[in-house]
Amino acid sequence: MSLDSRGAVAQAARRRTFAVISHPDAGKSTLTEALALHAHAITRAGAVHGKTGRRRVASDWMEMEKVRGISVTAAALQFAHRGCVLNLLDAPGHADFSEDTYRVLAAVDCAVMLIDAAKGLEEQTRKLFDVCRHCGIPVITFVNKWDRPGREALQLDAIEREFRLSPTPVTWPVGDAGDLRGLIDVRTPEQMLRYTPALGGAQEAVEEAISADRAAAEEGPMWDQAVEELELLRAADAMHDQEAFLAGRTTPVFFGAAISNIGVRLLLDAVVDHAPSPGPRELVGGGTRPVDAPFAGLVFKVQANMAPSHRDRIAFIRVCSGAFERGMTVMRAATGTPFATKYAHSLFGQDRSTVDVAYPGDVVGLVNAHALRVGDTLYAGQAAVFPPMPSFAPEHFAVAGPVDVSRSKQFRRSIAQLDEEGVVQVLVSELRGEQAPVLAAVGRHQADTLHKRNHRRHPDSDRP
Ligand code: G4P
Repeated sequence: MSLDSRGAVAQAARRRTFAVISHPDAGKSTLTEALALHAHAITRAGAVHGKTGRRRVASDWMEMEKVRGISVTAAALQFAHRGCVLNLLDAPGHADFSEDTYRVLAAVDCAVMLIDAAKGLEEQTRKLFDVCRHCGIPVITFVNKWDRPGREALQLDAIEREFRLSPTPVTWPVGDAGDLRGLIDVRTPEQMLRYTPALGGAQEAVEEAISADRAAAEEGPMWDQAVEELELLRAADAMHDQEAFLAGRTTPVFFGAAISNIGVRLLLDAVVDHAPSPGPRELVGGGTRPVDAPFAGLVFKVQANMAPSHRDRIAFIRVCSGAFERGMTVMRAATGTPFATKYAHSLFGQDRSTVDVAYPGDVVGLVNAHALRVGDTLYAGQAAVFPPMPSFAPEHFAVAGPVDVSRSKQFRRSIAQLDEEGVVQVLVSELRGEQAPVLAAVGRHQADTLHKRNHRRHPDSDRP
C-alpha cells in the first residue's frame, strides 16, 4: 500500500459526510448553525432570523444566495469534532421536491432526519426519506422544537408504521413537549442532563448532569414518567444497534430544541459515533472502488451563472477514493478525456478557501469546470465509472422557443447549459426539433428556478 493510499484510508476513517433532511420550517437552518456552533466552527449562532444578540454566520445558505448570488445548493460546510472531519451538505428542503436534493443525497453517507415535534412526519420528510432508503443511507432522527407544545415522545411509532424503520431513542425527554426539564442519555440513565440556554441561543446551552436522586426530587412525576417510558422501550428492545442502523432497519432518535441548542451536542456526537465513514463505492459493470484506490470522485451538482456579476461555473465533486490534490490532472470517465483541476475550492459558507488536498467524503468545488456534467465520474489511475444518478419522472412541462429568432444560437446555447447543469430535463422530439425543446421538471420549484434564470438572462422576455 502506498503512503497516499494509507493516508486516504486514515483520512476516510475520520470523515463523516451527511445531510439534514426535513420539511421546510422544521428548523434545518437553525440546526445547521447549532451544529456548527457546537463544533466550534462558528462562535455565535443567529444567522437565520437575525434575532437580537445573534449575528449572521456562514452556515446560512439562503443568505449566501442573496449575498453572493450563488444558489442555496452551493455550500458544503466542513468542521471538525472530536478528531473527525464532518462534511455537512445542504439538501435543499423546498416545499416541492427537486432533483437537486436527490443528487445531494447520492453524495452523503448518512442523513439526519429533522422532525418538528408538533407536526410529526410531513410530506417533504416522507419524500426525502424515500430517497435515503433508495440510496441505502442510514438515518439518524432528531425531534426538534421540544421546547414547544407538541406530541408525546412515545408517538414515535409513526416512524415505524410509515417508514418501516424502528426508532431506537438514544436520548429521552424529561417533561412534555413545551415543558422540557432535561434529557436522559439512555447510555447513562442514572443521571439527567439539565440545560440552561444562552439568551437567543447564540451560545451553547450550559449542560449540567444531575443525579437520578436529585432529578427525582426536583422533577417529581416528570422524572418518574420518563424513567417508566425508558423501561418500556428497553422491554420492547428499542435500543440502538449499530448493525441494524447501518442496514437501514432502525433509526437512533434524539430529542432537543435547535433554537436553544438543547440536545445538539449529543446529536453531533452521534454523527461522529454512528454515521458511517466513506466506504467502497459501487461501480458500473460490477465491483467497487475502495477508498484507498487512486482518486475518484462524483460530480453531484453543477452551478452556473447564478451571480449576474461573475460568470462562475462550479462543479461540486464528492471525493470517493484516494486523495484529490489541487492541480492534478484527472480523467473524465464520460469522454475519456483529461481534465485539469487547476482551480479547486472548498466552500465554507460565504468564504471560498482554496483546497490543496481533499479525502474521501470531502466536497471539492471546481471553478470554471465547463466540461463537467452532473453524474460524471472523475478519476486518476485505474478507470472508474460510478452509476448514473437515477432521474425522477417529471411532472411539469413547458415548450421553449426563442422570442427573437435572430438569437436562436444563443437560445440553443442557453438550453444546452440548463441541460448540462441539470436545472431541468431537456427533451427534444424529432417533430419539434431543437428550436422547440420540451423542458421537464420534477417539482414545481425546479420550474420556478428555470423561470427565474430565464428572466435573469432575458429580462425583456417572458419565454425561455
Ligand atoms: P428551515 O431551515 O427548516 O426552513 O427552518 P428554520 O431553521 O428557518 O426554522 C423555522 C422556524 O422554526 C423559525 O421560526 C425558527 O426560529 C424556528 N425554530 C427552529 N428550531 C426551533 C426550536 O428548537 N424551537 C422553537 N421553538 N423554534 C424553532 P420563524 O418563526 O420562522 O422565524 P423567527 O421568528 O424565529 O425568526
